[in-house]
Amino acid sequence: MTDGTAALSAVIDLDLPGPVISRHLYGHFAEHLGRCIYGGFWVGEDSSVPNEGGIRRDVVEALRKLSIPNLRWPGGCFADEYHWTDGIGPRDERPRMVNTHWGDVEENNHFGTHEFMALCELLGTEPYVSSNVGSGSVHETSEWVEYLTRDGDSPMARLRRENGRDEPWKVRFWGVGNEPWGCGGNLRVEQFAPLARQHATYARNHGDNQLYRIAAGAADDDYHWTATLMREITSRLGDPAPRELYQAVSFHYYTFGGVWSEKGSATRFTRDEYWTTMSRALRVRRYIAGHAAVMDAYDPTKKIGLALDEWGTWWDVEPGTNPGFLYQQNAMRDALVAAVHFDAFHDHADRLRLANIAQTVNVLQAMVLTDEDRLVLTPTFHVFAMNRGHHDAQALAVRPRGEQAVREVDGSDIPTVSASASVKDGRATVSVTNLDPDAPARVELDLRGRAVTSVTGQVLASDDVADHNTFDAPTAVEPRDFHAFETSGASLTLTVPPGAFVVLDVQLA
Ligand code: AHR
Repeated sequence: MTDGTAALSAVIDLDLPGPVISRHLYGHFAEHLGRCIYGGFWVGEDSSVPNEGGIRRDVVEALRKLSIPNLRWPGGCFADEYHWTDGIGPRDERPRMVNTHWGDVEENNHFGTHEFMALCELLGTEPYVSSNVGSGSVHETSEWVEYLTRDGDSPMARLRRENGRDEPWKVRFWGVGNEPWGCGGNLRVEQFAPLARQHATYARNHGDNQLYRIAAGAADDDYHWTATLMREITSRLGDPAPRELYQAVSFHYYTFGGVWSEKGSATRFTRDEYWTTMSRALRVRRYIAGHAAVMDAYDPTKKIGLALDEWGTWWDVEPGTNPGFLYQQNAMRDALVAAVHFDAFHDHADRLRLANIAQTVNVLQAMVLTDEDRLVLTPTFHVFAMNRGHHDAQALAVRPRGEQAVREVDGSDIPTVSASASVKDGRATVSVTNLDPDAPARVELDLRGRAVTSVTGQVLASDDVADHNTFDAPTAVEPRDFHAFETSGASLTLTVPPGAFVVLDVQLA
């Protein structure tokens, strides 16, 4: 709105903190897909690209700035054809396989369990391992957990030592299956649920390593899947003292502008396509609420978490690249999609405990793109960096006061401003996104309950929502200091540029 009317006028009660926004809502995903692992994270020890034991130094250095809390691996669809024992031992002796899902290329298994755990250590992140249900066995799952986490003398602990690692690793996040309704076996939930019970039973806690088991879940708004899975994993089947089988169930939701067979270009799109994309991105809020409501019926005290362990934009691949590699550019529009997802995540932090953007490097909505030895940060990277203040902070409700600006898109009204807030260690973080690519948004916030001593801000904005960073122009879209705000007592008024994302750091007395 350009007439001085606020696009959003809202109250934030700074003294009423809500649930903790788990930092694990800022998780990542690295699949053996295209150039995510090979060429992205992994170049091998003999590469001319500077590396640490085969892992790219520049990628690690960039990603460490995001304080990535967890990294999901090895898939995705790939997880359900991955046999972990192929990825241990001397690299030149490891069996090869065909990556049938992604490009039909040969996988040499040079990046396996030890390499992944080394990557996690370099990134300072927790591993999230996805185990194979689609083509794997309960036995494989059981032995992989033992190999990773068991101390003392056991067959798998001995094998790990033979492969050079004495101490067990700490592994918390353990995924059972991936999209079992599709690439993970084409199963009905009624078929998957018993398998999920079985795999979880043998994914043991060894020593003091406590697994956080995540059952593979629904697509989009398939609430039948979530309801059935919840019923099956929480029912007791006569066991008088069962251990908790699962700590979370997942679902996946991707945003694209067109139809599945023609998703649209990452950088060339019309205004109508832009608005359709934003409207679809905002659906995530409804889907999280829907799955959470279903879970409430089976788990009213919210012991079991919801995990959106794949989300992000999915466009047609960049012209001239392998269609099976899912390499896409990343524009300011993608950054705005990420920003509105985070607002929804923060508002549902009571149930949503983990989320993983797909994917971290060179695939789908990536943080970094690489080309040989070059690297570029995407606009999405900057949203993750700017929102770090929300990690493990307590959510603050942003309560609209009066009418909010909306726009009709594909027959429904969507808000043109999205916002969320949190508080931690005497400072509040407020994120505001102006979805309108053609007009600035005036936003009035009434910050109540605690005195504000100072405000600073950063903005991610560009001339057009299609703008993006390239290897030749790597800083076309990057954050700048933000000064377009005024404070007066408890009132904070800001003007957010068209199609821009702002984060305010509010110091409290
Ligand atoms: O992230 C790419 C793919 O999308 C994953 O492998 C799969 O789980 C999903 O369909």
